[in-house]
Amino acid sequence: MVDLIEKKRDGGQLTKEEIAFIIKGYTDGSIPDYQMSALAMAIYFNGMSTDETAYLTMAMVESGDQIDLSGIEGIKVDKHSTGGVGDTTTLVLAPLVAAVGVPVAKMSGRGLGHTGGTIDKLEAIPGFHVEIDNPEFNRLVNTNKLAVIGQSGNLTPADKKLYGLRDVTATVDSLHLIASSIMSKKIAAGADAIVLDVKTGAGAFMKTLEDAKALASAMVQIGNQVGRKTMAVISDMSQPLGFAIGNALEVKEAIDTLSGEGPEDLRELCLVLGSQMVFLADQASSLEEARTKLEEVIQNGKALETFKIFLAAQGGDASVVDEPERLPTARYTFEVLSKESGYVSEIIADDIGTAAMILGAGRATKESEIDLAVGLVLHKKVGNPVQAGETLVTIHSNSENIEEVTKRIYDSYTISTQPVEAPPLVYCEIKA
Ligand code: URA
Ligand code: CA
Repeated sequence: MVDLIEKKRDGGQLTKEEIAFIIKGYTDGSIPDYQMSALAMAIYFNGMSTDETAYLTMAMVESGDQIDLSGIEGIKVDKHSTGGVGDTTTLVLAPLVAAVGVPVAKMSGRGLGHTGGTIDKLEAIPGFHVEIDNPEFNRLVNTNKLAVIGQSGNLTPADKKLYGLRDVTATVDSLHLIASSIMSKKIAAGADAIVLDVKTGAGAFMKTLEDAKALASAMVQIGNQVGRKTMAVISDMSQPLGFAIGNALEVKEAIDTLSGEGPEDLRELCLVLGSQMVFLADQASSLEEARTKLEEVIQNGKALETFKIFLAAQGGDASVVDEPERLPTARYTFEVLSKESGYVSEIIADDIGTAAMILGAGRATKESEIDLAVGLVLHKKVGNPVQAGETLVTIHSNSENIEEVTKRIYDSYTISTQPVEAPPLVYCEIKA
């Protein structure tokens, strides 16, 4: 291991066997944290070649369970978002693409953040659960085209250990380490093809377009190199996506969007990502055809029907789709009113997310309990005109103490006297 650290430190390239040796040893404990930290720092400074990145990814995939989806008919396409604030896309996309025949075998997590993960959000639906076994999971995807299962305990243990180490050794921000970390989890989860939604802007992991493009390219290269068709869309996260930030509130927003209503930006991004998924799954011969199919199933109600069938099959009360008032509801709502007239020029996504988390919508630590009912609904987005006294944001809270939350909302909004253009929603696509 000392020789390998030295090799990487001096700008050399590690072979497939060397990387396999490192990951195996690190996972079984024979290579200690201090040596792995030194290597991570050497990689941080010297980067890795495309080959090294792919070898690292596959070594991490092979460190634990790999999900076998071969019992499911068709090309399984997964989607991954690098995260943001109020990102409701998975809740919309899963039933949307399933409704046109793409098998969606989704493994999802809870995780930390401003709101819960996809599973937390779905648990806002009374009775819904993800405790299903693998044969049942396969059966549900084959019959309904959509099922969601909780994360297997032993998926990519090497990544879990390495990510924890990077977190405390200032080596998270390495493009190649991030790319292999994310891709190892997607590949182990069994997808044949992967659509990546790489966010850029103040509320994203990658703050600049340049960094987002570099990360997207690295991930697209890994996927294609190991035989999974992979592409990326770079999308905006300079402000929150859609209007709703919170678990039940986002379920409601997803239902609206699947019904053909809902926020324009959320709908558009789902159509862009969905078209790529349908195309990669060979369910359309062009992106235009894919988009037309998706618009059709929103229009004719099939997308919403697919969502209902999916919820009921996993114990959920599907009547919430027609009666969203049955979702968990917060005790109080408060309006945050604009103090000025003008145009919204900025909404700092991170600060809005933190405001939602203070209300209880997300987890600060693994042990925190989520309040599914609480959150924020934005009424004004960047570019919108606003009059003094108009509502900027509605707070849904189970506490009357909203001083801190209100302050954060005011701090995150900037109102300009000059008209402002809304930022682009999608910047570009990255393909193999
Ligand atoms: N998310 C991941 O899963 N891994 C990283 O390294 C960074 C973000
Ligand atoms: Ca949203």
